[in-house]
Amino acid sequence: MNLDNISVVITGGASGLGAGAAKLFIEKGAKVAIFDRNLELAQTTATELGCAAVQCDVADETSVIAALAEAGKMNGTPRILVNCAGIDITGRTATKGGPQPREALTQQIAVNLTGTFNICRLGADAIRELDDLEGEEQGVIVNVASIAGLDGPFGQTAYAATKAAVIGMTLPMARDLSAYGIRVVTIAPGVFNTPLAASVLRGEPDDYAGSVPFPKRAGKPAEFASMALEICQNPMLNGEVIRLDGALRG
Ligand SMILES: NC(=O)c1ccc[n+]([C@@H]2O[C@H](COP(=O)([O-])OP(=O)(O)OC[C@H]3O[C@@H](n4cnc5c(N)ncnc54)[C@H](O)[C@@H]3O)[C@@H](O)[C@H]2O)c1
Repeated sequence: MNLDNISVVITGGASGLGAGAAKLFIEKGAKVAIFDRNLELAQTTATELGCAAVQCDVADETSVIAALAEAGKMNGTPRILVNCAGIDITGRTATKGGPQPREALTQQIAVNLTGTFNICRLGADAIRELDDLEGEEQGVIVNVASIAGLDGPFGQTAYAATKAAVIGMTLPMARDLSAYGIRVVTIAPGVFNTPLAASVLRGEPDDYAGSVPFPKRAGKPAEFASMALEICQNPMLNGEVIRLDGALRG
């Protein structure tokens, strides 16, 4: 899909990978709305990039419905959904200190899994109702998992489970939405230079680069954005999970 004048929603777009995608998509002529729980940061990023900011908690259905309606009023029904909103709560399953709190899982399910599913199902339902095609297709969904969902490291059981679930949704969702010309592709990033990675790794993501075969550094949000753009532009990419990790393995 050519992005020029296309309405795009990027969840978690206030920061990190989502902000990187917003920057590139705006350069390509898309009308971007950043959906983020952190409205203040979303507004700062949106002002910097020249797009709209909408407060949205992806875990909350009512909030997602309202945000999609607001984006629709401003930019037209969103045809491209890039789902970057996510959280990462680390901790081992059980230690001498006791079991990991159950909330580590339930909170991450709410944001990473239910949140992604909310935007996908509610956004796709609106795209489905558009009666015109953009080229040969109606819409594109880019979900964001993690290589943790494929080969998760220590201390990431709950996070990995939610990301594995996003990976698991990819093919059936692509099949479901194929009837409406909507493609679904998931990116599984390795380590990228963002505030989330810095807080999980308790340091600079680049310091972790020794474990990455090549290139020996953390990925840049612009490199994530470039993959998201290719997914939107290449109609043959569908139902697939793409690792973006410099060959990093658990
Ligand atoms: N950075 C990495 O190394 C890395 C690696 C693998 C996967 N990921 C995934 O990429 C995605 C983006 O991560 P990032 O590194 O850019 O993180 P980030 O913290 O820089 O950005 C995430 C954004 O999501 C927003 N957000 C959190 N919960 C939300 C909610 N309920 N509703 C709406 N917005 C919410 C935050 O406010 C923030 O702006 C996440 O899903 C993360 O799990 C990141």
